[in-house]
Amino acid sequence: MKITSDIKYVGVNDHDIDLFEGQYFVPNGMSYNSYVVFDDKITVFDSVDAHFGKEWLHNLQVALDGRTPDYLVVQHMEPDHSANIVAFMREYTSASVVSSQKAFCMMKNYFGEEFEDRRVVVGDGSTLSTGRHEFQFVTAPMVHWPEVIMTYDKTDKVFFSADAFGKFGALDVEDDDWSCEARRYYFGIVGKYGMQVQALFKKIAGLDVKTICPLHGPVLSNNLGYYLNLYNVWSSYQVESEGVVVAYTSIYGHTKAAAELLASELEKRGVEVVLTDLVRSDWAENVEDAFRYGKLALASTTYNGEVFPQMKEFLLHLVLRNYQNRKVAFIENGSWAPMATKVMKGVLEGCKNLSFAQTEVKIFSAMSEENKAQIALLADELAK
Ligand code: FEO
Repeated sequence: MKITSDIKYVGVNDHDIDLFEGQYFVPNGMSYNSYVVFDDKITVFDSVDAHFGKEWLHNLQVALDGRTPDYLVVQHMEPDHSANIVAFMREYTSASVVSSQKAFCMMKNYFGEEFEDRRVVVGDGSTLSTGRHEFQFVTAPMVHWPEVIMTYDKTDKVFFSADAFGKFGALDVEDDDWSCEARRYYFGIVGKYGMQVQALFKKIAGLDVKTICPLHGPVLSNNLGYYLNLYNVWSSYQVESEGVVVAYTSIYGHTKAAAELLASELEKRGVEVVLTDLVRSDWAENVEDAFRYGKLALASTTYNGEVFPQMKEFLLHLVLRNYQNRKVAFIENGSWAPMATKVMKGVLEGCKNLSFAQTEVKIFSAMSEENKAQIALLADELAK
């Protein structure tokens, strides 16, 4: 695949993966992107996951067509991109690794070597000229690890963005909606680091970018404002879509019935609703929705004098990702001593700028007529 007349794609698609980063379901697989920039000197951007070393080196060999690479730029040391650095350096013995000081320390930890005689250390503002092309490096700590650098090719106006602007899904699976799997990827992986993403935006604000080459997902070249705007909304924890996520756990169906009633009362009032059973759905999809919408209604059973485990786990996922700027409502059920709301509020205690709905619903086993009236009131409050 050609990106520009000088830049070629040499990455791979992974359809064998069960869980990305050991926890995310990726039904459409994953891509590990890698690029080659042809110039007087040849530069390769990043390697790929350990399982695809042979395929990547083959892709590279075909693209090189007899030429030899001079540089391997390592933008990120997470093994989905760094696992084949040593294989590359053995194959191309005259090449040097270009990376940040922190990345070289990580190489020592991962591989037992840091290429002392074959390396170029770069930092913020460093440049590398390969002939026609001049690369400018930008450090991007915590997007997604501390050692990350990103690279702007001044000649072709291409921004190599490491993990940023990536998405779940292999490149040979058609997907018309970039935002859905990009949002799930973003909040799953870098949701916690909104401030660092905002800092990156400030650094690159002056660059004239025509194409974004991420390490996962498609190369972006049309309508870049759309992607940049979504990243700005996500990283500043703004509400992307108006609506309410109703997330529940239920043992015998009584709490589920309350959640469904709230969802239908909201829909009657014209509110967009996402109703989700936290035990039977993808947790990362639920996290994504909680960050996408402005309001979250939690309905849970009391369990062992606490809250149902999957509800607690869901809330911990949100807290870990700096959940903030949202309104949260509570429905609890407990056949003899409801405790769920108290525990849920406790888990969310440290979150910034959360407001809790005034109407709270306390169910003892099955919904009473009074509970149904409370749920209608809660729907009124959330529909405002
Ligand atoms: Fe795609 Fe943070 O590695």
